[in-house]
Amino acid sequence: MKSITILALSILFASSTFVSCNRNNNLSIESPDKKIHLIFEIINGQLYYSVDKEGKSVIKPSKLGFLLKNLPSLDSNFIVMNHKISTYDSTWEQPWGEKREIRNYYTELFVELEQNDSLKRKLNLVFRLFNDGIGFRYEFPEQSNFNDFVIMDEETEFILPAAHTAWWIPAFRDNRYEYLYKKSPVNQMDTVHTPLTMETEDGLYLSIHEAALTNYASMTLYCTDSTKLNCVLMPWANGDKVRVKAPLKTPWRTIQIADEPGALITSYLILNLNEPNKIGDVSYIKPGKYIGIWWGMHVGEYTWPMGPKHGATTENTMKYIDFAAKYGFSGVLVEGWNEFWENWDFNFTKPYPDFDIKKITDYVASKGVKLIGHHETGGNVENYGNQIDSAYKFYKSYGVDIIKSGYVGGRLNGKEWHHGQFGVNFYHSALMKAADNQIVLVAHEPIKATGKRRTYPNMASREGARGQEFNAWSADGGNPPNHDVILPFTRLLGGPMDFTPGVFDIMIKQKPNNRVNTTLAKQLALYVTIYSPYQMACDLPQNYEANLPAFQFIRDVVTDWEDTRVLNAQIGEYYTVVRKARNSDEWFLGSITNENAREFEIDLNFLEAGKKYKAQIYADAPDADWETNPAAIEITEKEVDNNTKLVIKLAKGGGQAIRFFVVE
Ligand code: NOJ
Repeated sequence: MKSITILALSILFASSTFVSCNRNNNLSIESPDKKIHLIFEIINGQLYYSVDKEGKSVIKPSKLGFLLKNLPSLDSNFIVMNHKISTYDSTWEQPWGEKREIRNYYTELFVELEQNDSLKRKLNLVFRLFNDGIGFRYEFPEQSNFNDFVIMDEETEFILPAAHTAWWIPAFRDNRYEYLYKKSPVNQMDTVHTPLTMETEDGLYLSIHEAALTNYASMTLYCTDSTKLNCVLMPWANGDKVRVKAPLKTPWRTIQIADEPGALITSYLILNLNEPNKIGDVSYIKPGKYIGIWWGMHVGEYTWPMGPKHGATTENTMKYIDFAAKYGFSGVLVEGWNEFWENWDFNFTKPYPDFDIKKITDYVASKGVKLIGHHETGGNVENYGNQIDSAYKFYKSYGVDIIKSGYVGGRLNGKEWHHGQFGVNFYHSALMKAADNQIVLVAHEPIKATGKRRTYPNMASREGARGQEFNAWSADGGNPPNHDVILPFTRLLGGPMDFTPGVFDIMIKQKPNNRVNTTLAKQLALYVTIYSPYQMACDLPQNYEANLPAFQFIRDVVTDWEDTRVLNAQIGEYYTVVRKARNSDEWFLGSITNENAREFEIDLNFLEAGKKYKAQIYADAPDADWETNPAAIEITEKEVDNNTKLVIKLAKGGGQAIRFFVVE
């Protein structure tokens, strides 16, 4: 993941300025396209920033600073000791991703601050303005009198000019991120997780999140005074928020700013705020598609623990391997392979007696497929931490180098929030150990995605929202039709999601009280609308073999992209995206809607001029409807080129998936 072109790196202005604390002192910068402006100011010794885009206020003057444990707060008496404004412009390559080349183009304001009192404590602030938003972070530099302290509150505010409409999920809940999104004005929100996405009255789309969350607590947001969003950090069990040993850089606080909802999706600001690859050779990370002994447990066909319905038997695993090899899948996930699911006292190097890992991994290798490992920790990271080195080595010794990890539970070790500094640090150490062993991670019940995949590309995918599994057993009836049309503008702004699409038995015959709330064509479209380098075909093999024509799309779709373009989008309503495959001429389209039927005319001008393509179209049949006739699909072919305008019809709760490939 090297930087492939450094176009310009220039320091525009550097100065050493001592600015007195009791005047209103401004420092301002603008984005490279001059549309976004930021003002940093010190008013009576306190730190404030504000942001606008082309005259529209985005953030009104909002406070910065910290409350500390048993120490005077770090939020007043500041003076600017030095500041520097610079621009940076380079293009870097993602080793895998939704787009190969990413431009990282910004203006930076770096400010060195000191408290003008007897403590003389130092703090740095860094602001970066991109054409698609801003990021800022605090830095605690090493200093003799202020190196080891506890943050009790980060006072960062985001004061909005109005009570914008927001899509949000609550924070501080036992199910972590697994909630349905609510839509309301910000002043009617709970304390919420980020990304927090908003639509403004004057036509902007904003999303507040964070980038590069390492050795710090996750930020949640709480609205007061009807428009003031306050940063609330997830605490340690004893109430500490962040235990700091300087030097330390906080995560970036990010605000993506777009004129259209789709531009949030093609904004790479969060990735750009993460550092380049630090783990060296990443050639072992090969995006792909997998099947697994998984949905069977969720629908009650199999059990995780050993017994008469055990899913993870040698014989059953071999059958799945045969299926994967026959239909071109690169991986087979097997859950429930290790002792002891009976009491969730997991041993990560002890397979159940009916799971012959040697025989299975020899067989999988002979078929050119990979076994995808599974570590369910049950949130007991003490138990997992004690075994993790041997657990990774055990799998590696059998050639397993992709592991799905799980952290089910309301608290880690029964007391710590997943998203507190404790959890952030545990997941980070698991990631580092995985990198040392050249292991790829797909984490469930994860820490939210903050773009760390740029720095550690073995952090491939994660769950971190209500995924497909809720449709198998949730008492509330599963994910409603608008859920998949909200995710791309919220959760997915953080990074890839292992949603596990591809249910063909929409009505789930094993579960009379549960079903999937989409059409079959929408299940196919999700492979394009939800980005993940590892995509599961989650249903039971027999359900795919019963509908091989529709299954063909899952066999054909790729999971690693040269480019991504959004063709139309309204949050929670509809979303159409096209992606170009890496290393081939193929394009794939996914279009999805909520409970309303839609018709669009799509301009195929993204196809290469002068070439003829075949479009293989997987559409909702005319009488399809997610509620009454979800499986009705119509598969057709059409010759198209880049002048073609294609009419796309989506049923209620429906979708459409298209593969385009060059014929001449
Ligand atoms: C929850 C995960 O999301 C799911 O995929 C997994 O099957 C179970 N945990 C068991 O690990």
